[in-house]
Amino acid sequence: MAGRLAIFGAAGIALGALAAFAAYAQEGQAADAASAQVTLKAQEIVAARRAAYFLSTQAVGQIKAATEEGGDLRRAEAGGRMLANWAKVLPTMFPEGSNVEGTRALDTVWSDRAGFEARAADYQRAASEVARIAAEGNREETAKAFMAMAATCHACHTAYRKE
Ligand code: HEC
Repeated sequence: MAGRLAIFGAAGIALGALAAFAAYAQEGQAADAASAQVTLKAQEIVAARRAAYFLSTQAVGQIKAATEEGGDLRRAEAGGRMLANWAKVLPTMFPEGSNVEGTRALDTVWSDRAGFEARAADYQRAASEVARIAAEGNREETAKAFMAMAATCHACHTAYRKE
């Protein structure tokens, strides 16, 4: 009897271990999927980031129109949030090796990476401020936050983009 119990006990432990392993294996797979490396051609990355930049100007226009007389500040809030999300991932669109024909990025994007990322972080903060202030419903303050955000575009372009 004791022997059988011991066997069940051992089986129980074995099953437990199996279940734990299965859970671990699943987590492992999820982690693998999350960190899976995909390959994009440098030209494809350049095309995607340039398309994203051109799309981002729509949100800039949306914010500007919203701050004008009669504009809906909720559209400035939404636009600010969109741009903050874009600013957050923007540096990932400039991986090593994507300094190829067709880009207007300067070499400084890669040689002064810390500076480039700091400019992107400034942009993210400024866009979040637009959203935060627009949500408070103050048109004049939203317009000021919009101008401050536009200055962060310019600050990055002068140092990291060809004229
Ligand atoms: C952290 C740096 C940085 C910030 C901030 C930034 N940009 Fe840029 N932008 C670039 C770089 C670098 C390129 C060139 C990308 C390429 O050609 O590969 C670019 C390209 C562009 C382009 C494509 C135009 C062209 O012909 O090359 C537009 C449009 C643009 N940016 C608009 C904006 C606007 C509007 C903002 C702010 C709301 C902004 N950018 C903020 C770095 C930045």
